[in-house]
Amino acid sequence: MTEPAPGTATAATRATGAGTAPGAEALRQRALDALLAARDRTTLLTGCVDDPDLTAQHSPLMSPLVWDLAHIGNQEEQWLLRAVAGRDAMRPDIDGLYDAFEHPRAARSSLPLLPPAEARAYASDVRGRVLDVLESTAFHGTRLTEAGFVFGMTAQHEQQHGETMLITHQLRTGPQALTAPDPDPVPLYTGPAEVLVPGGPFTMGTSTEPWALDNERPAHRRRVPSFWIDTTPVTNAAYQEFVEDGGYDEARWWTAGGWAHIRAHSLTAPLFWRRDGGQWLRRRFGVTEAVPPEEPVLHVCWYEADAYARWAGRRLPTEAEWEKAARHDPAGDRSRRCPWGDADPEPRHANLGQRHLRPAPAGSYPAGQSPLGVRQLIGDVWEWTASDFLPYPGFRAFPYREYSEVFFGPEYKVLRGGSFAVDAVACRGTFRNWDRPVRRQIFAGFRTARTPHPGGTDRPARGARPERP
Ligand code: AVJ
Ligand code: FE
Repeated sequence: MTEPAPGTATAATRATGAGTAPGAEALRQRALDALLAARDRTTLLTGCVDDPDLTAQHSPLMSPLVWDLAHIGNQEEQWLLRAVAGRDAMRPDIDGLYDAFEHPRAARSSLPLLPPAEARAYASDVRGRVLDVLESTAFHGTRLTEAGFVFGMTAQHEQQHGETMLITHQLRTGPQALTAPDPDPVPLYTGPAEVLVPGGPFTMGTSTEPWALDNERPAHRRRVPSFWIDTTPVTNAAYQEFVEDGGYDEARWWTAGGWAHIRAHSLTAPLFWRRDGGQWLRRRFGVTEAVPPEEPVLHVCWYEADAYARWAGRRLPTEAEWEKAARHDPAGDRSRRCPWGDADPEPRHANLGQRHLRPAPAGSYPAGQSPLGVRQLIGDVWEWTASDFLPYPGFRAFPYREYSEVFFGPEYKVLRGGSFAVDAVACRGTFRNWDRPVRRQIFAGFRTARTPHPGGTDRPARGARPERP
């Protein structure tokens, strides 16, 4: 077997306490918990600011928060009340307003949106009915309801908008609205800077994960030649060296598109960074702080990640390399659900779920490392990969083309692993995210890779672990 069914008892899952494959009632409970947790987060993100703040356009890149709120309710109504339970539309007049393909984000604040109180009432009215539907729906018989897929999909959708809303909070100016404890301090990471992943085939994607979305399917074999990959995401300290080495002034580090982009927009450092005398400061959720050197770099676009890698004598990992580093267990030629095994993430494994409002220092979460010792693949920061967002062989759009299929192609780069702002329900070793290569407001960083020199020594290239200033 090359891919585990969730909950299948293997040495890895027994060690981490997972039981046998969940039955329908366990999945129903899991769906309920996921829906409730998503709503708690939505309530937090939309309840910590006042009504004018909810309806404001904080950035042309983002929707007003009140749009996300009603869109969450509207998607839930469309899938769980209409598609699953066959109910009539509660508010047929509003579907168009909350269709993401009908109105660009920058135009949404001038639409006749439901005001905050009505948006809240609508989302909670939908949810009340959904809880009845969840009780009475069989978790088999149709592809949509098999293993509770459509409930899991809806919880993932709400959590994805939770991350979107958190990005809006990061872009918003004004006093701090959100707080959370910082990750635990860890000793400075001094282990190996990179890990060699041996060449050969591995199983990419999944055909067994019940709530995996269409673009993660099906499981298929991929041959990946050997490569070196950074043990941890690239840190602020390392990225700062690139900045201070004049990295943004030298065309040779950049693709043609990247160079044109940073020139046209006068980019000189990650988004939210500002130089103050000799020190780099950054704004984070309404607070300005010194850039923490050991934290993974955040708010760089794909062009910046790619340029840094070239400057360091390295490159971005491909998506297949990333997934092999995260899932492949060379001992059993088998792909795990997560780097640490098949069990769902626990706090000791990864920084997920907005428990903290920042990534943890590079080298954190040794309990969450991959079989080969690669750390922080899940959580902390989304990681840009070299790859375009493309379908796997055998892909079939399900349940709607607009989730993934309409985005396939060279305009979108794949991000992997999830950030501190992703909930565990929407994060796993197979989960794929994508965005345009210019995007910087997302919680994205990266790690680098390199191809071993043929017949040569495997001395790390310059920049594999830059000296700290
Ligand atoms: C998978 C994060 C790219 O936010 O555009 C939300 C998720 N799809 N509503 C996005 C999504 C529909 C999607 N990403
Ligand atoms: Fe959406």
